[in-house]
Amino acid sequence: MKPKILVTGGAGYIGSHTCIALHQAGYDIIVFDNLSNSSVEAINRVSNLIKTPVTFIKGDIRDRASLQKVFIEHSFFGVIHFAGLKAVGESVEKPLRYYDNNVSGTLNLLDIMRAHDVKNFVFSSSATVYGDPDVLPINENAPRSATNPYGHSKLMVERILEDLTSADEGWSLVTLRYFNPVGAHVSGQIGEDPNGIPNNLMPYISQVAVGKLAQLSVFGNDYATPDGTGVRDFIHVTDLAYGHVAALDYIQQQDHPTGFLPINLGTGKGSSVLELLTAFSEVSGQRIPYQFAPRRAGDIASCYASADKAKALLGWEAELSIKDMCADTWRWQRLNPNGFS
Ligand code: NAD
Ligand code: WQD
Repeated sequence: MKPKILVTGGAGYIGSHTCIALHQAGYDIIVFDNLSNSSVEAINRVSNLIKTPVTFIKGDIRDRASLQKVFIEHSFFGVIHFAGLKAVGESVEKPLRYYDNNVSGTLNLLDIMRAHDVKNFVFSSSATVYGDPDVLPINENAPRSATNPYGHSKLMVERILEDLTSADEGWSLVTLRYFNPVGAHVSGQIGEDPNGIPNNLMPYISQVAVGKLAQLSVFGNDYATPDGTGVRDFIHVTDLAYGHVAALDYIQQQDHPTGFLPINLGTGKGSSVLELLTAFSEVSGQRIPYQFAPRRAGDIASCYASADKAKALLGWEAELSIKDMCADTWRWQRLNPNGFS
């Protein structure tokens, strides 16, 4: 029998891509999502791409009764937990909403998992837990800190997972710290569909390229980086999706060590804002107007991963290039100028 996986937040950007990779790898998936930041159309498209209907349950991880029902009806090998809110700026304005969704929601889920003796968990953490790093590339032992409620919520969940491990060694808690996920499925059928004006760089660039936005503001050109603009570890969402499959495959091995296991998912390589902009322009053939603007509050100069642990432990490494990330984002943007709507 195929191992069954509950995918919370599986209708979202990273979740939908991961559903495809999980299906291809032979996992049986059940998606649980309240659609607060996604569309059921993403699920329909995933079903079409994998030529199999995805089982979708509309529900909220904070709602005990509906989660209980799912665990009674299905026997899970494990849970991949994407569900959560992720807008840094909004988290500053609405901290309670973020702690409620990201921390209370996760506590609820873990408690129900415990009650049903499902103890394999893959958590969506973030490079944001490293704050402003002292040493690059960043490895998993680097000190952790956060500067906004979103980051704090990820740190709090990591702490909860560590405490859970100390209390009960039966848990396998793989904590994947994503760097900067970008790109879209190669088919152009699913991709990132931000609400309103995008906060993140790649969706902003692609909306300028397609003519929805007039020009990009490059936040800061006086950082201590090769061209003065911010440097990030952009990682293709398809590579990221395979990282989740690798994490589950690892947990399935009989003799794997249990406990709290933080792992970076990045490429190990930093690219600057201007490098990404230039690559996108070349790949799309579009002129992308931009202007330099002041630094954005809370931004750091450079952030890129040491990807060694993921390779050593999971046998996973990112394969797709910046050009692939731009080409796939552009295909998705061109085919779906208004996202899923
Ligand atoms: P997303 O918003 O596209 O997906 C999150 C999904 O969770 C959405 O479909 C949303 O409807 C659902 N959701 C939110 N709250 C819920 C709740 N209470 N109950 C049920 N469903 C709920 O975001 P994404 O980019 O796919 O991110 C997935 C996860 O990865 C998040 O936890 C995010 O914090 C984390 N992460 C994202 C990035 C990034 O840059 N995209 C980077 C690092 C970490
Ligand atoms: C990248 C670079 C900007 C927009 C965020 C979250 C982080 C994680 C990933 C969830 C920076 C510059 C951006 C623009 C710009 N998410 N930029 N003009 O800030 O590295 O990370 O997403 O966990 O927690 O903070 O990503 O794409 O917003 O910015 O010049 O219009 O692009 O200043 O240098 P960031 P980003």
